[in-house]
Amino acid sequence: MTTQIRWLGFIGTLMIAIGVGLAILNEPARQTAASESLHVAMVSEGADIYAQNCVACHGASGEGIAAYPPLTTAGALDAQILYNTIERGRYNTAMAAFGVEEGGVLTGAQIQSLVTMIQAGTWDAVATRVAALGLTPPQIVVAEIPAETMAQVAALPNGSVLATGLTVYAENCAACHGANGEGSSLAPALNTDELRVRLNDDAIARIVQEGVPGTLMSSWSRALTSEQQQAVVTLVSNWGELNAAGVKLPVIESAALDTSPQAVANGQRLFSLLCTQCHGVDGYGTQIAPALNNQTFLSQTPNAAIQQIISGGVTGTNMPAWGGYLTDADIAAITAYLRSLEATAPIVAPAQP
Ligand code: HEC
Ligand code: HEC
Ligand code: HEC
Repeated sequence: MTTQIRWLGFIGTLMIAIGVGLAILNEPARQTAASESLHVAMVSEGADIYAQNCVACHGASGEGIAAYPPLTTAGALDAQILYNTIERGRYNTAMAAFGVEEGGVLTGAQIQSLVTMIQAGTWDAVATRVAALGLTPPQIVVAEIPAETMAQVAALPNGSVLATGLTVYAENCAACHGANGEGSSLAPALNTDELRVRLNDDAIARIVQEGVPGTLMSSWSRALTSEQQQAVVTLVSNWGELNAAGVKLPVIESAALDTSPQAVANGQRLFSLLCTQCHGVDGYGTQIAPALNNQTFLSQTPNAAIQQIISGGVTGTNMPAWGGYLTDADIAAITAYLRSLEATAPIVAPAQP
């Protein structure tokens, strides 16, 4: 009896020991699983925060847009450095301080998630998430400057500034002023001797900064950093040297516009909400603002230019700059809607009541 109880007791102890042992053996796995799911949660939270706050400059897959740097290699940076950069920004650059304590919008935990996401480096998944949220910024203009041309420009005196200027130009100005500054139906030439005689650097800088009231030349002070403005001004005032060196840019192609029925419907909805009070129902124009639904305007104005006009507005007129209120995707949708009117648009705008 006693032996039996001892025996049972022994088995009990043994089972407890085995149980504890197994639990101990399992513990690292459980911990790993827990920290893995925490890691996954932080990466996915980071992607959402990134989509809302960072894609406009760093791109949907961290590839960097225009002059803004890619983040695809930033994962190699020290976590603390990444954290500080996002929290405090980089002084004197477009990289603002995002930390709440620095006047930004992100909490410490949110910044931590961004750091984890950047270090995880799963940029394809981030791009998919950004697309699912409808926040992928369209590349308005694809500025494919061949490496050869870049090298040619970089070899000129002040070459690195000119190279930056050329990139800024290709992405922001070429849609109206032409690939090589030759001008278009929308905007005058910028590559002429006549312009360089008439306008010195200060005058060009003022036009870029303030725009020309009452024309499609809007102010670039919001869209471009002062460094970018300076570079594009240097480019315009030195276009003679580019011509002399035989620098020629390929004609810039617009990225294909999303003209799916959904995009057009979304654009039509936005147009009814925001634009009809001035441009009239279906864009037929009013006393206040010109018709957009007519062959003359639509055939002469490429998609990229329409997007620029909507974004930048027409300084000194009632045409607001929508860039600060609408996302690039919204502006692209409105453009797709306007483009969809072209097939049935009257040649000349009908007289308005
Ligand atoms: C308005 C444009 C803009 C936005 C929006 C922006 N950044 Fe930046 N970011 C920059 C610029 C410009 C730099 C380069 C600063 C410099 O020259 O050091 C930069 C640099 C960085 C760097 C350092 C990269 C490196 O290799 O040193 C990180 C990290 C970064 N940004 C993360 C973010 C995150 C995360 C967000 C969103 C919360 C964000 N940025 C939003 C413009 C922007
Ligand atoms: C949406 C079309 C559009 C875009 C984009 C645009 N411009 Fe212009 N720009 C114009 C128009 C139109 C004028 C003529 C204004 C006037 O009538 O005086 C002009 C005039 C100018 C002038 C003065 C030319 C002269 O002969 O007096 C300069 C310089 C200039 N733009 C530079 C730029 C630069 C640099 C960019 C890019 C950062 C840019 N523009 C982007 C439409 C545009
Ligand atoms: C408060 C009135 C007002 C509103 C609202 C408005 N616009 Fe305009 N828009 C104007 C005026 C005025 C002009 C003509 C500017 C000029 O004199 O060149 C104009 C010009 C334009 C042009 C250039 C037309 C051309 O022939 O060169 C486009 C494109 C345009 N608007 C699109 C839009 C879109 C898209 C919306 C809505 C998101 C919108 N506008 C909202 C007043 C307005």
